[in-house]
Amino acid sequence: MSFSSEAFIQILLIFLLLPSSICQLPLDTLTPNQPIRDGDVLVSSRKLFALGFFSPGNPQHRHVGVWFYKVPEKTIVWVANRNHPVNDSSGVLSISGDGGLVIHGKDQSTPLWSANVTLSSPNNFTAKLRDTGNLVLLENGNQRVVWDSFDYPSDTVLSSMKLGLDRRSGLEWLITSWKSKDDPGTGSCTYGIDPRGSPQLFLKKEGGPLWRSGPWIGDRWSGEPQLSSTVGLFNLSFVNNEDEISYKRVVANDSLFTRGVLDESGIYQRLMWNDKENKWIELVSDPNEWCDNYGLCGPNSNCDPYNDYKFACTCQPGFEPKSPSDWYLRIGVGGCIRKAGVSVCRNGEGFVPVNRVKVPDSSTAVRVNMSLSLEACKLECLMDCSCTAYTSADERGGGNGCLTWHGDLMDTRTYPKVGQDLYVRVDATSLGNRRRNKCSFILTAGSTYFEESSGGTAFDDSRINSELAFFHLKTITTATNNFSIENKLGEGGFGSVYKGILHNGKEIAVKRLSKFSGQGVEEFKNEILLIAKLQHRNLVRILGCCVEDEEKILIYEYLPNKSLDSFIFNETKRALLNWTKRFEIIFGIARGILYLHEDSRLRIIHRDLKASNVLLDNSLNPKIADFGMARIFSGEQSEANTNRVVGTYGYMSPEYAMEGLFSIKSDVYSFGVLLLEIITGKKNVGYYHEEYPNSNLVGHVWDLWKEGRAVEIFDSSIEEYLVSEVVRCIQIGLLCVQEYATDRPTMSAVVSMLGNDAALPSPRRPAFLLKRMTPSGEPSSGEGANSVNDVTCTIVEGR
Ligand SMILES: *[C@@H]1O[C@H](CO)[C@@H](O)[C@H](O)[C@H]1NC(C)=O
Ligand SMILES: *[C@@H]1O[C@H](CO)[C@@H](O)[C@H](O)[C@H]1NC(C)=O
Ligand SMILES: *[C@@H]1O[C@H](CO)[C@@H](O)[C@H](O)[C@H]1NC(C)=O
Ligand SMILES: *[C@@H]1O[C@H](CO)[C@@H](O)[C@H](O)[C@H]1NC(C)=O
Ligand SMILES: *[C@@H]1O[C@H](CO)[C@@H](O)[C@H](O)[C@H]1NC(C)=O
Ligand SMILES: *[C@@H]1O[C@H](CO)[C@@H](O)[C@H](O)[C@H]1NC(C)=O
Ligand SMILES: *[C@@H]1O[C@H](CO)[C@@H](O)[C@H](O)[C@H]1NC(C)=O
Ligand SMILES: *[C@@H]1O[C@H](CO)[C@@H](O)[C@H](O)[C@H]1NC(C)=O
Ligand SMILES: *[C@@H]1O[C@H](CO)[C@@H](O)[C@H](O)[C@H]1NC(C)=O
Ligand SMILES: *[C@@H]1O[C@H](CO)[C@@H](O)[C@H](O)[C@H]1NC(C)=O
Repeated sequence: MSFSSEAFIQILLIFLLLPSSICQLPLDTLTPNQPIRDGDVLVSSRKLFALGFFSPGNPQHRHVGVWFYKVPEKTIVWVANRNHPVNDSSGVLSISGDGGLVIHGKDQSTPLWSANVTLSSPNNFTAKLRDTGNLVLLENGNQRVVWDSFDYPSDTVLSSMKLGLDRRSGLEWLITSWKSKDDPGTGSCTYGIDPRGSPQLFLKKEGGPLWRSGPWIGDRWSGEPQLSSTVGLFNLSFVNNEDEISYKRVVANDSLFTRGVLDESGIYQRLMWNDKENKWIELVSDPNEWCDNYGLCGPNSNCDPYNDYKFACTCQPGFEPKSPSDWYLRIGVGGCIRKAGVSVCRNGEGFVPVNRVKVPDSSTAVRVNMSLSLEACKLECLMDCSCTAYTSADERGGGNGCLTWHGDLMDTRTYPKVGQDLYVRVDATSLGNRRRNKCSFILTAGSTYFEESSGGTAFDDSRINSELAFFHLKTITTATNNFSIENKLGEGGFGSVYKGILHNGKEIAVKRLSKFSGQGVEEFKNEILLIAKLQHRNLVRILGCCVEDEEKILIYEYLPNKSLDSFIFNETKRALLNWTKRFEIIFGIARGILYLHEDSRLRIIHRDLKASNVLLDNSLNPKIADFGMARIFSGEQSEANTNRVVGTYGYMSPEYAMEGLFSIKSDVYSFGVLLLEIITGKKNVGYYHEEYPNSNLVGHVWDLWKEGRAVEIFDSSIEEYLVSEVVRCIQIGLLCVQEYATDRPTMSAVVSMLGNDAALPSPRRPAFLLKRMTPSGEPSSGEGANSVNDVTCTIVEGR
């Protein structure tokens, strides 16, 4: 026998390496002899993901999870024993014949969690953590996968993970939120594909829809516009055949960490890890805008969030509000119905295009025929009297395929640039002057049948009534010591604010509305129910209300640190707010307003944004107070203008102060003034500077800006700051106070400008460069006033 030298070296190497290879298996693999104990960690081969025991909150709750190995803040992407934590450090994850993969605590007899597969010879299996974050259970010889964690996602979607339905096994690929930030137990929100009709992504809470993507239209979902910033980053794939319906998003560069996560409040966020900034950056979130919320405007309506001056809900062509009073109150619940007394069957009807929308819910009462052209689709729909609308099923190449609806049209919304055209069936009159469709006259016979309409209910009332408490007047009088003067915190135009202590010790702020607010009790309750739904960390939370006898009272959370004006306009306290903190406050306020304008279920225009209406919590985070209150007090208002101008001098946009026109852009104006006040530490009203005796603050900033000296106005009590950041903020402030509402950015644009470094447009001249008189006719003194004596003025009538 003779060895070649090469073979000899190989054998030598094996011997040399043997000791370590016996006790050290690859880090990414779990074998029957080597289970994972609490404290051990599996790491995927390229060190992208890790698996081990962790505690999200309570250290006595130990879960097995997978996280990004390289991301410093532990970001959990999968949890095995979600609902059954190990209650001490005795946990073990192992391979077992009975269960496949199992987790045990001290009790060896019954596992806390199991993958539920049976292995006849468990010694022939290993489990491996792959670089995709997928934990797979493999048969050793043939590498057959008998179980993988991607089939049982938690709250996170990773690159190349499927959402959808395995038609062969009936397994649903869907993610479920955690119970709370520190409990990975199965929560109430889900995100996955609803296979019915033309399949769509659905975000649901307790089974009720919160958001949907619209149907797949060839290269994307109808209602999920591609962000230009992420084009090319991901490959999207959608499969719908007899084996499965699935959707996945594959990141083109697998060195980039991305994830989609569903939180317990029902918001799905797609994020990407940014190495430079060392944090997760949000790419997109759903629902993102007011109109994204499922079915807000009710059946047969369309939601257009870019409708600045009007209510976002409109009826589809040929339809009218079911309950005009609801419509007036901005509650879309009732939606729209076919105009009374018209026929849309063999009566000269036709179609009207509704441009660039997320098409209606396609889960029920729809038909799909991929072999029809758009023209053929139209004829098909016209001939069938039950057909209410049609569009192309695949938008690529100018559109082909046919999607028809045969019932109510639910949850349509407008996108200004992307979106599909929807063709809605209307009666001959609504078709109006449009070119009449010849086909409608030749159709005289033919079978017609009606399908039961099953559009689903638009609005879940239980969601509105939760959380809000109705207090008895007696409780409130006791809490506030009979509205005693010692408990009084301040006074505004609409009533007085008191501090109160409930019998359980909880501190509250009580706003007792003046008896002259002139609003009916029913309307008041209505508004309260709506406002109670507003929840955002930059808004003061309303806890409840009390309507008894003549009293109308609002109850808020109590914030001990008072309002922003008591800080920024106070020589001693202003120093507590350094530049970082001020920027955070500006950003927080911007996000709070954005929520009011676009993200909540309602569109709310605050109308009285000012420093004294921004409260600070214990960590000096801003919380906007008095949101939406202005609306309660205006009996005769419309979204576009009002007879009663409420607001505060110095913060009111010109179109609002002079013409009573208010819109989201008048809030943007007030925000701009507020931003400049935060930066300068000076009040807009009553501002005086020797060089510019006739200018207010905004005017002075503008003059300096034109001369390239804007940074000179910066609050001198701040020492450390970046000039470029301050100047950028001033520029954003100036953009917000531009004279013409159309020039001003929306709050979403403002938030985005604050959040990145992209180039900004040049501001045009702001409004109100000159000093204005206070109601008494005297220029107000700029000294020492804060929320308590800062009177909200009400300019009434007679404009
Ligand atoms: C852990 O749970 C077991 C039962 O599952 C229980 O008997 C034991 O007392 C618990 N231990 C602790 C420390 O809570
Ligand atoms: C295994 O089966 C149990 C009982 O049916 C179930 O609660 C559990 O969710 C299953 N585990 C997995 C990973 O599917
Ligand atoms: C398991 O592996 C052993 C050898 O390692 C083999 O003899 C046996 O047939 C395998 N069992 C199965 C069920 O594949
Ligand atoms: C994405 O799609 C393109 C075109 O189909 C293909 O060339 C590329 O390999 C895909 N990338 C990934 C990561 O799948
Ligand atoms: C992938 O991303 C990494 C990290 O951002 C980057 O260094 C690399 O150049 C990218 N590769 C390609 C092909 O874009
Ligand atoms: C689609 O339309 C074509 C042409 O009208 C028809 O022959 C076919 O049966 C339709 N397919 C389905 C699935 O309805
Ligand atoms: C509260 O004030 C009202 C009227 O001022 C008075 O009638 C009532 O007795 C007072 N109640 C308490 C508990 O002081
Ligand atoms: C905020 O209020 C709390 C409670 O009254 C107090 O302890 C804290 O010092 C205050 N913070 C500032 C910055 O005033
Ligand atoms: C700014 O103030 C906050 C607290 O208000 C503090 O945490 C932070 O360290 C300060 N930053 C600088 C740069 O001084
Ligand atoms: C400024 O704040 C200090 C400390 O809270 C307070 O004592 C003082 O009265 C305030 N000054 C004015 C003018 O409000």
